This record gives sequence, structure tokens and C-alpha cells, in this order.
Amino acid sequence: MATIAIYSMKGGVGKTTLAVNLAWAAATVSGRRTLLWDLDGQAASTFILSDGRKRGEEARAVLECDIPPQDIIAPTRVPGLDLLPADGSLRTLDQIFVEIDRKRHLARLLEDLDRHYGCIILDCPPGLSVTSRQVMGAASMILMPMIPSTLSRRAYEEVRDYLAADQEPSPPIFPVFTMVDQRRSAHRAALDANPGCPVIPMASAVEMMADHHAPVGDYAPRAPATRAFLNLWRVVEAGLARR
Ligand SMILES: Nc1ncnc2c1ncn2[C@@H]1O[C@H](COP(=O)(O)OP(=O)(O)OP(=O)(O)O)[C@@H](O)[C@H]1O
Ligand SMILES: [Mg+2]
Repeated sequence: MATIAIYSMKGGVGKTTLAVNLAWAAATVSGRRTLLWDLDGQAASTFILSDGRKRGEEARAVLECDIPPQDIIAPTRVPGLDLLPADGSLRTLDQIFVEIDRKRHLARLLEDLDRHYGCIILDCPPGLSVTSRQVMGAASMILMPMIPSTLSRRAYEEVRDYLAADQEPSPPIFPVFTMVDQRRSAHRAALDANPGCPVIPMASAVEMMADHHAPVGDYAPRAPATRAFLNLWRVVEAGLARR
């Protein structure tokens, strides 16, 4: 089983977008039974992929082991893709992990889900905190979306250095350029400086995900952005095979 965390300490860089579309690719292209676990109290993945019903505090109850994850896991309209939804109770996720006070709590919860899925994707909230430490202790691989800019590179280096200095073992971390606009010289320069880094283009098809309530590949199968998500998934799968 592979757990892929889509993580960045920065907000608004394309984490949810990557999480939803990679989950789609994992389920449809590779035929892996896939779970997208929305760990962000903003519940954006949940909004895109679920039926839109009003939710209570079940996401917190799952983390506190008051109810099993299977009680709230639901299928999505993508065959083979299930969603473990978020709700507002995760806005205090750091505090929840502090109160639970178990180093590898998220990893243990994921081990239980392991038997049911070939791939689990975590849509993480922004930050570098207790929650990120839990995520890093649980993931087999971290993808960090990055808008090509000096500040994004700095954020990536900060996380990389944090992991390198940490006593705990950490999974490999791979940057992914997101919202790339080839007309901008700063973006072109960042791509030239990092030729191996996967690229997701800026595209209006991507912006429409929340209106379609679906991954881009579902309503725009031939869009360049869909090709980019598929290419990224192939790179990720090759990386998982090398583990
Ligand atoms: N490749 C893209 N092309 C166009 N718009 C994009 C692209 N990627 C993301 N966006 C848009 O940018 C905004 C932020 O993206 P997203 O929600 O995925 O970021 P995030 O990192 O998950 O944010 P947060 O930190 O708030 O969780 C959204 O409106 C999304 O539709
Ligand atoms: Mg998000």
C-alpha cells in the first residue's frame, strides 16, 4: 500500500487540486482501489467529491477513534475512489493531535485502512506543525506543490531542512510545479533551473473543478491539465515501484 501526502507549509498552492486529480488517476489509470483522506478543516476535497450534505463532527470522531473510519467513508462518482471526508471539526487538527498525544497516531489509523486500499492520498492543511509531523510519520511519499517563485522555493527548502534535522525517519519529498504560466519569465526560469520537476499548467479547466464537483479528467479528459496529472501519476507510480 502507498500513502501519498500532498503537503506544503504554504496555503493556496494547489494541494487540494493535486490530491483530487492524483486520486482520480490512481483509481482510473492504475485501477488501484483508492482513498482520498481530506485532513483539512476547510474540506475543499470533500466539497469537490462528495454529495454536499451538511456534516457534523465525524472527522474529529474518526481521529479520536470514537467511530471507525468506515462509518463515514463514502464512494465518489469516480469508480474505485472513496472519500474520507473532512468537516469543520478538523479546524483544530493540531490541537486534536496534541490531546491524543501519540507520536504515530495517524500512521496507526492508516495501517488499519491499509488492508482495504491500494493507494491512500492525504489532502493536508497548510502549516509546519504537529499535524505535519504526524503526516510525515505516516506517508510513503510527500508531494509538495509549488508555484514557481522564490518564496515557494524557500518554503520547500525550509521543509526539506526541517526533515533532514529531525531525528524521526522521513519519507522522500518531491516538489511539483503548479499553476505554471509559461508566458511568465519567472516561471520559465524556475522550470529551466529544475528540469526534472513535474509541471501542472495554470488552466481554467482546473479552476472549474468545484463547479463540476469532479476531477478534471472526468469532465475534460483531453485537456492539457488532465495529461499533466496523468504524467505526474506515472512519475509517482514509478517512484513507488522503486521503494
Ligand atoms: N493548475 C491550476 N490552474 C488553475 N487554477 C488552479 C490550479 N491549481 C489550483 N488552482 C486554483 O487555485 C486555488 C487554490 O488551489 P487549491 O485549493 O488546490 O490549493 P491548496 O494548496 O489546497 O489551498 P489551501 O492551502 O487553502 O488548502 C483554487 O481556486 C484552485 O482552483
Ligand atoms: Mg487545500
